Amino acid sequence: MNTPIKVAVTGAAGQIGYSLLFRIASGALFGPQTPVQLRLLEITPALTALEGVVMELEDCAFPTLDSVEIGDSAEHIFDGANLALLVGARPRSQGMERSDLLEANGAIFTAQGKALNAVAADDVRIGVTGNPANTNALIAMSNAPDIPAERFSALTRLDHNRALAQLAKKAEVTVADISKMTIWGNHSATQYPDIYHAEIGGRNAAEVVGDQSWIENDLIPTVSGRGAAIIEARGSSSAASAAAATIDAAHDWLHGTPEGDWASMAVVSDGSYGVPEGLMCSYPVTTSGGNWEIVQGLEINDFSRRMIDATTAELAEERETVTGLGLI
Ligand code: NAI
Repeated sequence: MNTPIKVAVTGAAGQIGYSLLFRIASGALFGPQTPVQLRLLEITPALTALEGVVMELEDCAFPTLDSVEIGDSAEHIFDGANLALLVGARPRSQGMERSDLLEANGAIFTAQGKALNAVAADDVRIGVTGNPANTNALIAMSNAPDIPAERFSALTRLDHNRALAQLAKKAEVTVADISKMTIWGNHSATQYPDIYHAEIGGRNAAEVVGDQSWIENDLIPTVSGRGAAIIEARGSSSAASAAAATIDAAHDWLHGTPEGDWASMAVVSDGSYGVPEGLMCSYPVTTSGGNWEIVQGLEINDFSRRMIDATTAELAEERETVTGLGLI
C-alpha cells in the first residue's frame, strides 16, 4: 500500500456528498493501492446527518478507506489536506438577488480560503463545485496568498460531460468516439459549449454534424439548461452526475488528460484567448503531474468569439461585485 492521501470534502452531508464520498472511499480517484483519509466539513446542524453517512461508509468496508474525520472547523478539517473538494455552498433562497448569493457564499469561501492557506499540505489541489463555482474559487484563491493560484479550479466538467452526451446522440456515436470538447467561461447559463475543435473519430465534429442551427438552438441551450431540466423532472438536483464530474475533474487533474485529448476546467486566466487576466474561466486544458496548461493556438470563429466574450463579461461582472463587497 502507498502513503495515504488526505481528501477534504465540504458540504459532505449534502446530496452531491452522498454520491461523491463512496466513490472516493472505494478508490475511484487513487486506485486500489492508495489508502484515502477522508476529512469531512459540514455546518454544525448537519453534523448529525453526517454521522449517519460515516456509519454507511464504515459499513461498506472499503479496503482503501483508511480513516474518516468529521467536523465543523475548516482549520481542523483542512489540516494536511492534499486534495480539497469544496462542494458545500449556500443555495439561493427565495427573494435572494445574485449579489446576495455572491455575498453569502463569499463569507464561506473567504473563510475556507484562509483556512486552506494556513493548514493544507504543500501539494494541495483545490476543486470548487459549490455554486457560483467560478467566483467562489476566485474568492478562495484570493484569500490564500501562499497557495499558488494554479492550485485552484472550478468545476465545468459536468457541462463538458453533458455536451459530450448530446453530441454523441446527435452524431449517433458513443462518447468514447469524441475528443477535444470544450466548455468556455462561467458555469452558468452563459457558458459556451464549443464543438468547433471537437473530433469524432478524428474528424472535425462541427463538420460531421453539419448543422449550425442544432449547435445554436439545441446543443447550447440543452447543455446550459440541463440542471434546470433535471430539477424539473426529478424534483431534485443533478447530484449523481455532479459527483461523477467532480471525480472526473480531480482524476484528470491529478493523473493527466489522455494523449490527444483535453478536458474543460475553470482555471485562473493568463489572458489567453482574450479573457481578462485573473478571471476563473473555463478553458480547454491538458494536465500532467497535477499541473494544467491552457491549450493554445485554437482558431476562434466569429460565433465563438461572441459567445466567449459574453460569458467572460459575466465573470468580470461577478468579480466586480465581489471586489465591491471587499471579498477579494
Ligand atoms: P445540498 O444543499 O444537498 O448540500 C450542500 C451542503 O453544503 C449542505 O449539507 C450544507 O449543510 C453544506 N454547507 C453549507 N455551508 C457550508 C459550509 N460553510 N461549510 C461546509 N458545508 C457547508 O447541495 P448539493 O446538491 O450537494 O450541491 C452542492 C453545491 O454544488 C451547490 O452549490 C450546487 O449548486 C453546486 N452544484 C455545482 C455543479 C457544477 O457543475 N459546478 C453541479 C451541481 C451542483
